[in-house]
Amino acid sequence: QLNLKGRDFIEFTDYSKEEIEYLLQLAIDIKKKQKSGEVYQPLKGKTIGLIFEKSSTRTRVSFEVGMFQLGGHALFLSKNDIQIGRGETISDTAQVLSRYLDGIMIRTFAHSNVTELAQYADIPVINGLSDDAHPCQVLADFQTVLEHKGQLKGLKMAYIGDGNNMAHSLMLGAAKLGVHVSVASPEGYEPNPAIVEQAKSIAQETGSQVVVTRSPEEAVKDADIIYTDVWASMGFEEEQQAREAAFSDYQVNEELVKGAKKDYIFLHCLPAHRGEEVSEGVIDGPNSAIFDQAENRLHAQKALMTALMG
Ligand code: CP
Ligand code: NVA
Repeated sequence: QLNLKGRDFIEFTDYSKEEIEYLLQLAIDIKKKQKSGEVYQPLKGKTIGLIFEKSSTRTRVSFEVGMFQLGGHALFLSKNDIQIGRGETISDTAQVLSRYLDGIMIRTFAHSNVTELAQYADIPVINGLSDDAHPCQVLADFQTVLEHKGQLKGLKMAYIGDGNNMAHSLMLGAAKLGVHVSVASPEGYEPNPAIVEQAKSIAQETGSQVVVTRSPEEAVKDADIIYTDVWASMGFEEEQQAREAAFSDYQVNEELVKGAKKDYIFLHCLPAHRGEEVSEGVIDGPNSAIFDQAENRLHAQKALMTALMG
């Protein structure tokens, strides 16, 4: 058993392959306990604060419910209700909240807000999505893949679309876990080259292949997992029209998925825009695992909170 107590969870680069595998196994164990009706409350008396500067359905509900199930308490702290929204600094907020809480999750815009909060907080800080990363989602995603495929190493994941926070965390997570990953994005919407380089260098140690291409067909060829995300992420709503034009050849649909393995699974972090990044036939079809994936946010984050705050 590894000891992760007191650690932050900001991006996969901070964690070793063994630590990520440990969290995935813990998530699977905690899910089993929950399904069998076992009461498991290692976080009795602990409180996590959930700072939200962007909207959320899954992240908020899974953290709140997860913490309740673990015997602790979660506080929903919307930016409009706390003083951050009126200009109180992140460093003061971090130091004050550290006197009350046992952990903080933050969903924000600039990734530097997460790292600054972590720098000044004495308690674990969990990245609940920034413009650059969404590692909680990816933890649940690889739990889902593991459950559906029984293994991770050597599988191929195709990510089609925006080179955004999801693309980044998926590339880093895949590289760490030995999953091959091909990202297909249109010009101007590629993943951050520095993160691609990071993923490639991690991949050299684990034997995974990291490819960035323009061609969705090349990316999905023989893929075990096909992943996509919205074309306009939170904070980019005013670019919706321009993005619809730029991404028009990047829809995951019945035609595109023909190139994948027959038993591929389709994943999407949600929320989805049916008819844009993915056709109804694919997202609601027999290969789609989107609701297992959404459910696993609960189990993966219970594992994360237990490991960091237990
Ligand atoms: N996938 C995800 O993070 O969903 P929410 O924005 O609803 O939290
Ligand atoms: N890329 C999306 C993910 C939402 C969970 C966004 O940032 O809005």
